[in-house]
Amino acid sequence: MSVGERDPHTGHMTTGHEWNGIKELNTPVPKPVWFFLVATFTFAVIYWVLMPAWPYGVNYTRGLLGLDQRTIVAENVRSAAIERSVWTDRIAAANLREIQADPRLMQVVREAGHALFGDNCSVCHGTDAGGGPGFPNLAQAPFLWGGDEETVQETIRVGINSEHPETRVSQMLAFGRDQMLARDDVKRVATYVRSLSQPEIASMADKDELAAGAQLFLDNCAACHGENAKGSTDAGAPDLTDRFWVYGGDETTVTASIHGGRMGQMPSWEGRLSDVQRKLLTLYVLDLRTRQQ
Ligand code: HEC
Ligand code: HEC
Repeated sequence: MSVGERDPHTGHMTTGHEWNGIKELNTPVPKPVWFFLVATFTFAVIYWVLMPAWPYGVNYTRGLLGLDQRTIVAENVRSAAIERSVWTDRIAAANLREIQADPRLMQVVREAGHALFGDNCSVCHGTDAGGGPGFPNLAQAPFLWGGDEETVQETIRVGINSEHPETRVSQMLAFGRDQMLARDDVKRVATYVRSLSQPEIASMADKDELAAGAQLFLDNCAACHGENAKGSTDAGAPDLTDRFWVYGGDETTVTASIHGGRMGQMPSWEGRLSDVQRKLLTLYVLDLRTRQQ
């Protein structure tokens, strides 16, 4: 064993170990590698001491700084909830008319209601609640089920033809398809229905046909839509004499409604939205109406 011999090919010193004439070069780990090893190790140790790091069973080392993402998040959530609860509590406690009388609460209704409506209702009823074919105009049209606060809130809670056990149930029968009315009679009653909201149709149509349509209406439709065709909130049947239509007032659409029937579906929002949120939406919708009418 010779020590400190220099290898003639590489210029490195050898360690002095030799196996069958092969000598091991003395090439130590470079300094920068040592430096980074020590630096990262020291960082890790300091980090373990200061921050939450090691899990052990159900718990973990908390670290000297006591920083905990979970408590930070929980704290943020709590302070946001406290801020919100100031008015959610008041909206939850007050009755609908008290809220309507309080301008500050109505400001909350308009802002929070607008966001809630945008997230949950506008896909069907439109961002301005103006509706569209098959979806009623909530901002202006007379309500199918009645427009006092409790009724609207109940409609939102249980839905219409929804899966909720207490759902509102309504159906426009398929008079043509189910052969309750002959094709010509469907046409006659359709013309009569359209004449109710469009005077020019009344003046153009054949008087006898129109009278026949009126009679067909009394016999077949008045039970739900009322003798004066003003609709019924018991049956959820729309007023057929105004300018608003759920599906449409042109000849094809009215004929299609009478021929094939209609059964609009409005989801139940119980379970999906809290009591306070549904209350907010009720107030929001009613407020839109007072502003747009
Ligand atoms: C999937 C589509 C859809 C969504 C989403 C929806 N609705 Fe409806 N909504 C309807 C339909 C369809 C009707 C009418 C049902 C009918 O024709 O009888 C209706 C009817 C209503 C009525 C009854 C109106 C009346 O004339 O009595 C109210 C109130 C209402 N919706 C409020 C809301 C609110 C508030 C939301 C959001 C939380 C909402 N809707 C979300 C489809 C929807
Ligand atoms: C069993 C009750 C019932 C009877 C009977 C009935 N309707 Fe309806 N009708 C409804 C309901 C409920 C709606 C609303 C359906 C919906 O919104 O999905 C409706 C909707 C309509 C519509 C669509 C209105 C719109 O806004 O687009 C027309 C048109 C109509 N009915 C005409 C008639 C005529 C004509 C008859 C008689 C031949 C008749 N209905 C008989 C319950 C009835």
